[in-house]
Parts: sequence; C-alpha cells; structure tokens
Amino acid sequence: MFSWFKRKTQSLPPIHVSRSDDFTNPSLIYDFFTDLTGIHFDQKESITTPKLIRFAKGNECYTFLELIEKLRSDVRVRESLINLLTVNETYFFREKGQLDFLARRSQTLSKPLRILCAPGASGEEPYSIAIILAQSGFPLSEVEIISIDINTEATQRAREGVYTSRSLHRLPPEIIERYFVVEGDFYRLGSTIKGVVDFRSCNIFEADFLGLGVFDMIFSRNMLIYFDLLTIEKAVGQLKKVARNDQTLFFFGHADLPVVPSGLEGHFEEGIKYYTLKKER
Ligand SMILES: C[S@@+](CC[C@H](N)C(=O)[O-])C[C@H]1O[C@@H](n2cnc3c(N)ncnc32)[C@H](O)[C@@H]1O
Repeated sequence: MFSWFKRKTQSLPPIHVSRSDDFTNPSLIYDFFTDLTGIHFDQKESITTPKLIRFAKGNECYTFLELIEKLRSDVRVRESLINLLTVNETYFFREKGQLDFLARRSQTLSKPLRILCAPGASGEEPYSIAIILAQSGFPLSEVEIISIDINTEATQRAREGVYTSRSLHRLPPEIIERYFVVEGDFYRLGSTIKGVVDFRSCNIFEADFLGLGVFDMIFSRNMLIYFDLLTIEKAVGQLKKVARNDQTLFFFGHADLPVVPSGLEGHFEEGIKYYTLKKER
C-alpha cells in the first residue's frame, strides 16, 4: 500500500496549494461589515463573496482571518471595503413627489433652514433639494444642507459636482441649462447650488454623526432598505437625536420602512408620506 502510494505520488505533478482554498467562512467578514455599517447581505452573498476574495488577495490577505485582522487594524483597508460594498445608486429628482411637496411648503418654512441628507451618496439628492428650493424662490442664503455618506469616494464625487447624463435623466432641459455647465460628456454643477451643500464622510452609527447639530428636515432615502428591522430602529434612533423639535419633517424612501419606527408619527398629505417625532402625551 505504502509503495503504491509512493509510486502514485511520485508520478503526480507537484501540488500547488492554491492559497484561495483557505477562503472559508466569509461570514466573519459579513458580520464585521454589518456591525460597522448596518448593511445586511442576505441572499446577495453568492455575488459578494468572490468580490471579497479578490479584495482580500488585493490586500495581501490569503484567509478571511487575515483579512479581518487587517480590517480591524487598518482604517484605509476598512474604508476601501466600504467603498467597494456600498451601493451608491442615485440620480437627480429621484422620488420627486417629496421634493415637489417641499417646494409647495417652501413659503411657510422657517428661516434659516437646516436640512440633513443621510445618506447623500454622490450628491444628486442634496443638490436636487437645493435646486427645488432655488426654483421655488426660497433664499439660498437661508439654507444649509448637510449631506453625509459612509462611502468616501461617493462623498468626493459629490464635492466635485460633475455628473454624466445618466444622473441627470430626470431633469428637465431648462433646469440643466440653468444650473449646469456642459463639459464634453459631463455636466458640471454651478457654484450657486454647490455652495448650499456641505458634504461629510460619516457613518450614521458613529459618534461624530451626533455632532452635526440639529435639523428642520431630515431626508433618509434608500439606505434603510439594506438594514434589518433592528438596525432600521437603531438608524432612525440616530436620526431622531438630530431633529430640532417635533416640527422636524422626516422623509424616507418608499421602500425604506416596513413598519413605522418607534417614536415617529406618520402623516399623509397631498399624496406624500412624511414623519415627525411622536408628541409626548
Ligand atoms: C442607494 S444610496 C441612496 C442615495 C440617495 N439617498 C438616494 O435615495 O438616491 C445608499 C447610500 O447609503 C450609504 N450608507 C450605507 N450605510 C451607511 C451608513 N451606515 N452611514 C452612512 N451612509 C451609509 C451608502 O454608502 C450609499 O451611498
């Protein structure tokens, strides 16, 4: 038996142990990522795991254990993983009904007005809010929009304010003409609108989020869809802490809230759903 084995192994080519064979237990990374960002992958793991393996090898890690150690100790690796795995899909005038509602209310809004966009991704949503207010005659000198996002590359793109036609596909030509300068295939947003929005790289769950001050309006659209129910409660808990008072209006994406989070009260007016803090009784 032994001699057979010896013969057999001698005739075999040398074994190249593929170091990628060690990539078992991706849940180590998923759990770490969910704790950090709130994002759950659920059924998407089969698409995401090959990306994780490529990412690990690109960072000279050949097991998920090595990768988790690097993620814990190296903020830049953490940041690149966040930039890789967050979905930043957005465009100008997305879910425009809420923006039109804002425009109709603009005459009655208090001044100065502070608006939070959490998350603002690459800027299309906070800039849309600024455009809508400008169009409805609200003085831009009286508005401050803070836009936060955990993805540092999206935040950088937002600050640059340069877009492709894909981001602008819902904008009427007169809005494009008024607020953008065409540069080849790109559209550069003018300084009037750019000056209204302040972009920060920030994780909604981290302490610096609470240092942003308080807001009269809070837009949190199409982020909570990536969270489970408990994490939605936790995220809304953070948003509630930065509401100025019980007049603060909260707007969510149409698929964001499977149930009304605790401490919020839903309102339905002119076909638009919005929320305020639940009043103490
Ligand atoms: C699909 S985009 C939505 C952008 C925009 N609000 C819209 O509705 O078009 C979701 C964004 O949420 C951000 N995000 C996910 N988790 C986050 C967190 N914990 N803190 C801050 N931003 C987060 C992602 O980076 C991504 O840019």
